[in-house]
Amino acid sequence: MRTPAARTRAGSAALAATAALLLGLAAAPAAVAGADHRQDATTLDGLAHRSGRYFGSAVDNPELADTDYANLLGSEFGQTTPGNGMKWYATEPRRGVFDFTAGDEIVNYARSKGLTVRGHTLLWHSQLPDWLSSGTWSADELRSILKNHITQVVKHYRGKVFAWDVANEIMNEDGTYRDNIFYKTIGPSYIADALRWARAADPKAKLYLNDYNVEGTGAKSDAYYALIQRLKADGVPVDGFGMQAHLALQYGFPYQMRQNIQRFADLGVDVAVTELDIRMILPADATRTAQQADWYGQVTSACLAVRRCVGITLWGYSDRHSWIPAAFEGQGAALPWDEELRRKPAYDAIGAALTAAAVRRTG
Ligand code: G3I
Repeated sequence: MRTPAARTRAGSAALAATAALLLGLAAAPAAVAGADHRQDATTLDGLAHRSGRYFGSAVDNPELADTDYANLLGSEFGQTTPGNGMKWYATEPRRGVFDFTAGDEIVNYARSKGLTVRGHTLLWHSQLPDWLSSGTWSADELRSILKNHITQVVKHYRGKVFAWDVANEIMNEDGTYRDNIFYKTIGPSYIADALRWARAADPKAKLYLNDYNVEGTGAKSDAYYALIQRLKADGVPVDGFGMQAHLALQYGFPYQMRQNIQRFADLGVDVAVTELDIRMILPADATRTAQQADWYGQVTSACLAVRRCVGITLWGYSDRHSWIPAAFEGQGAALPWDEELRRKPAYDAIGAALTAAAVRRTG
């Protein structure tokens, strides 16, 4: 009898073969390095590429030392996002003193594997260096600190990062502005300024606002809708809206996700699913794992149904390295690969949704 893992592998091979047949492709050899996997119908990124999208995974610096993990990331995915390496505490640990070591390590890894990089993040209320969060600043001082930070970081990664999460998590659940240090000190104008400074530093990078609990319609995504509409009307450079998509089975699937993605696209911005994971209350069992697979498929289909939904990034691809168990006690098993890097049913569900979209596009 085959083990569940062997069944999953066999299922995936069958899936890839079906995809290749449907698309009229010859079986492609497994990709090892470089950008080969973008043409390879046996990888998630290769399948996404057939619909003009990318499929990626975040990675944190210490994980690069896990060779099996880093190799699979490099062969299955076409895009990566540093989990922590480009955040303010890492890039400007002392005022005016920049350290790009962690971010560069991810960029170099990505280049060696042919992956593109989303930059994350230029401003956030969390993981700020102490000198910044514990300082007392006038509005002018903080504006100049923010401008310098954005300018230095974006210039450093010009041509290496194709999109930036310029502002991360700037809204409360009720759709009011989050009372972060920038809002408190400068007021809401910091958002438009941040976008303008980022554009000036790299005119080609796509500039995003990014948040969680905005995948479905509701007060928080309404607030972003209104904000992006205003920014556009004022000629502020905003190119995209990032839906993190940290989902949890116990809270239900985001309400009207596809329609919500569509309304942002209709505003004239790209949408990306930027930090996807789907956690559950442990222990994982067959029912929860099947529901999770269904949700992964639904998220993928919702994105691929909208032309301007440009790609999907998992927040780490395996339960071996996931932020969830440390952040939510008793929850986990959130990713499409388990701790042993074996594929779960979610992998096949994503592959099936990507394949269906590719067939619709070529058909
Ligand atoms: O750097 C210290 C290290 O010196 C210390 O030894 C170690 C001991 O715990 O902690 C290290 O800091 C950790 C840091 O990641 C870097 O590894 C923090 O404890 C830990 O809380 C922090 O977690 C990160 C989290 O953001 C912080 O909120 C996660 O790795 C990262 O995946 C997560 O990512 C965020 C996105 O940026 C925004 N959206 C939500 C997402 C999940 O929280």
